[in-house]
Amino acid sequence: MVDPSDKAGFPHHMIKEIFEQPQGLRDTILPRVSLEEAAVKLEDIRIPADDLRTLRRINIVASGTSRHAGMVGQYMIQELVNLPVEVDYASEFEYRNSLLGPDEITVVITQSGETADTTSAQREAKARGSHTIAISNVVDSTIAREADGVLYTYAGKEVSIASTKAFTAQMAVLFLFSLYLGQVRGKLGKDQRRHLLRELLEIPNKLDPALECAEQCEHLAETYLKFDDFLFMGRGIHYPVAMDGALKLKEVSYVHAEGYPTGETKHGPLALIDEHLPVVILATCDRGDPGSVIRYEKNVANIKSFKQQGGRVIAIGSEGDAVLPKLADHTVLLPQAPELLLPILEIVPLQIFAYYIAVKRGLDVDRPRNLVKSVTLE
Ligand code: BG6
Repeated sequence: MVDPSDKAGFPHHMIKEIFEQPQGLRDTILPRVSLEEAAVKLEDIRIPADDLRTLRRINIVASGTSRHAGMVGQYMIQELVNLPVEVDYASEFEYRNSLLGPDEITVVITQSGETADTTSAQREAKARGSHTIAISNVVDSTIAREADGVLYTYAGKEVSIASTKAFTAQMAVLFLFSLYLGQVRGKLGKDQRRHLLRELLEIPNKLDPALECAEQCEHLAETYLKFDDFLFMGRGIHYPVAMDGALKLKEVSYVHAEGYPTGETKHGPLALIDEHLPVVILATCDRGDPGSVIRYEKNVANIKSFKQQGGRVIAIGSEGDAVLPKLADHTVLLPQAPELLLPILEIVPLQIFAYYIAVKRGLDVDRPRNLVKSVTLE
């Protein structure tokens, strides 16, 4: 029986849970993958394959960090399965009069499985005739019990209020779900599936070297401790990761931070960027993906313009990158990975940076003020 108060020698649950991510990913991925058959096996999905074959749209509904995972999942599903996906705030879902049809499913994502907004959004979706699949980190939670199908994350018990290891496990489950849909709908052939599964199986091993940036992130926190505003940026699938990096900083250090699509900054936020507003930009690159290279080159151009107007830039890049360290004030380099899986690595330095800012500000990292682990009231 896991003793939830046990920090396993770490000073706080948050940093312990950040370092538990490789194991949480292995426990979440391995039982569902057969490389031999190049197949994904989702035991509790309980939605007939025929229904998945005739699907016209997927709605993802969630709150907080879980919604950011949903946004990453949107890119994965649309890229790999060519199926339209919409992502909603659970707290807004009932007001949007979402025109759900029979050939749609609603995926609700939740670490705790008890969040009131997400619970009622699922009930709303079901009342409108939609099948639901719950992605939950707590077995037999309310949301899991009420869903038609379940995809559990096995990140282990998450004690710290700011969600970390559940987030990376959610992104891994959404990648598995995308491959499963591609498999069932005949969109992804065996070779392509096997290649993508091999890449996914590599990710837990790449998280270990990614966690080695902890010391550098602690130094960065020391350097940026006095700043009260930050702008986090990313393009494409990296934008929701920037959103979660900003949320982590807000949640645990009470510092104002905003996540923004990099390309959108020229339509306003660019006016803010100077020596008082540090920019954290996701500028990783999958050299094997032409779209990723184009995004990277655009990010490099953005960094140059931020520097020209006196901005301070922390860049998150991919190992072997010799350009970013010359351009940005600080650069954290992460292991190489395919574009759709880079988010699972990129969030790590952002989690650790937020953690050390909070620690150095003497705050209660695991129990931030005014927040609870699961909001059970609407
Ligand atoms: C908040 C937590 O209360 O709820 C966040 O502090 C979390 O970390 C959000 O992301 C959503 O919770 P859940 O359990 O539905 O994923």
